Amino acid sequence: MIDKLIYMETFGCQMNVNDSERIVTMLSDLGYAPTNDPSVADMIMLNTCSVRGGAEEKVYKRLQNLRIYKRDGKSQIIAVGGCVAQQEGEELLNKFPYLDLVFGTHNLHLLPDMVRGAEQGQRRSETSFIDNDQRLDLFPSIRAKSSLSRFVTVMQGCDNFCSYCIVPYVRGREISRRSADILAEIRQLADEGVREVVLLGQNVNSYGLKAESEPSFAELIRQVAQVSEIERIRFTTSHPKDMSDDLIACFGDVPKLCGQIHLPAQSGSDEVLKRMKRGYSRESYLDKVRKLKAARPGIVITGDIIVGFPGESDDDFEQTLSLVEEVRYIDLFTFVYSPRPGTKAAELSEELTRNQKLARLDRLMTLQKRINLEICREYVGGLQTVLVEGKGKLTGQVSGKADNGRIVNFSGDTSLIGSFVQVRIAKAYPNSLLGELEK
Ligand code: 5AD
Ligand code: SF4
Repeated sequence: MIDKLIYMETFGCQMNVNDSERIVTMLSDLGYAPTNDPSVADMIMLNTCSVRGGAEEKVYKRLQNLRIYKRDGKSQIIAVGGCVAQQEGEELLNKFPYLDLVFGTHNLHLLPDMVRGAEQGQRRSETSFIDNDQRLDLFPSIRAKSSLSRFVTVMQGCDNFCSYCIVPYVRGREISRRSADILAEIRQLADEGVREVVLLGQNVNSYGLKAESEPSFAELIRQVAQVSEIERIRFTTSHPKDMSDDLIACFGDVPKLCGQIHLPAQSGSDEVLKRMKRGYSRESYLDKVRKLKAARPGIVITGDIIVGFPGESDDDFEQTLSLVEEVRYIDLFTFVYSPRPGTKAAELSEELTRNQKLARLDRLMTLQKRINLEICREYVGGLQTVLVEGKGKLTGQVSGKADNGRIVNFSGDTSLIGSFVQVRIAKAYPNSLLGELEK
C-alpha cells in the first residue's frame, strides 16, 4: 500500500539520475510515492555528486538546510546516497545529527532494509564496495516509468584513474554487465514501446575489454541494432583512448546508431594530457575526430574541457583553444580544475590564481558560443528526422530529438507522439531548434 511520500533530490551525472529512478521504484514496494515537496515528505533523500569541489559544497549546504524539515516528534527520515556518501561514509552521521541513513554507490540493494530500520529509529551507514559476482546481479534494470527513450546501463565504474578524477574512488572498479542481460532488458523495453536506447556507462568504449565472454562495445551495438523495434541507439560516455576503429565504423554502417557522440578531450595540450594521465595525444584525439566525421558526415560532437589544470601554461591553453576550433563541438562542457582529495593531481602545486583560471574559462566559453551558433545556423532551412517524444515548449507544440540529438520543437498535435516525422528547421537556438512539420 502506498501511504508515505519520498522527496528525492539528485545531483550530478546521468548515473545518479538513473540510480535515483531506480531507488524511487524500489521504495514504492515499501509504500513510498514520490513528491516534489520536501515539507510534506516522510523521507527526504539526496543522491549526491563529488566530481568537483563546487558540487560537493552544494550538497553540504543542502544538508544543512534539511534540518528545518526534521519535524519534532515525527519520524521523517533523511537519507544521503551517491558519491559524497561513498566518500564520507559514517562521518556524515556524526556531522549531521538529524541524518538517518548514508548509503554508498554499491549499496542501493540494502536500502529497503535500511529504510525499514530507519522507520524504527535506527541510524545506519553502509558504504562497502561489493564483489564483482554480486555486482553482476545487481545492475540496475527496467524502471516502471514508460517513455520512448530509455537509458540502459551497460557498465559501471572506471579503471582509468585520470589524475584529477574522483570517480574511480567513489564508483569503484570498472565492470561490464552481461550482454545477455543487456539485450534481454532492451527486448523487454522494446516490447513496452521504447524506440530509443541510450547505452550508459562511465566509459562505455571499454565495455567487454576485460570480460572474455562478452563482445566488444562495437559488437554490442551491432547486437542491439538487431532488436527490430529499437530504431535509435545512442551511448554515453566515451573515452577517446578506447574508441576503436570498429566502433567508429559503426557510425558508418549501423544506421540506427545516431550521429552524435560525447567525446571529452579535457585539454588540447600534450603536456597537460600526459599529466592528466589520459592515455592519448592531441593528434590521436584529432585523428579519431576526423575518422568519425568521415564515417558519419554531419556527426555532432560534444566534449568536456578542464581549464587551469596544475602547470597549464598560456601556450597549453592556446593549444586547447585551437583544438576546440578544429573539432567544432556543438556543445562544450567547460570546468575550472578543482583538486579532489586523494587523487594524484591534488598533490601537484597550483600556480594560477582563481582569476586567471576564470579568464581562461571565459575565453573558452566565448569561443564555444561562436562555434555553437555557426553550427546551429547551418540547420536552418534543412530537414531533420524527429522522433516526437512529448509536448513542446509552448502550447500547441510538440517536441522530440533529431538524429543528431538536438531538441526540435514544432507546432503539431500530441497524436504525433511516438512517430518519426520530417521537420523543416526555421530557427536555431543554442540548445534547440524550432521548425515546421513537413507535410
Ligand atoms: N576538476 C574539474 N573538472 C573535473 N571533471 C572531472 N573531475 C574534475 C576535476 N577534478 C570534469 C571532466 C569530466 C567531467 C564529467 O567533469 O571534464 O569529463
Ligand atoms: Fe574520471 Fe577519467 Fe574515469 Fe572519466 S575516464 S570517470 S574522467 S577517471
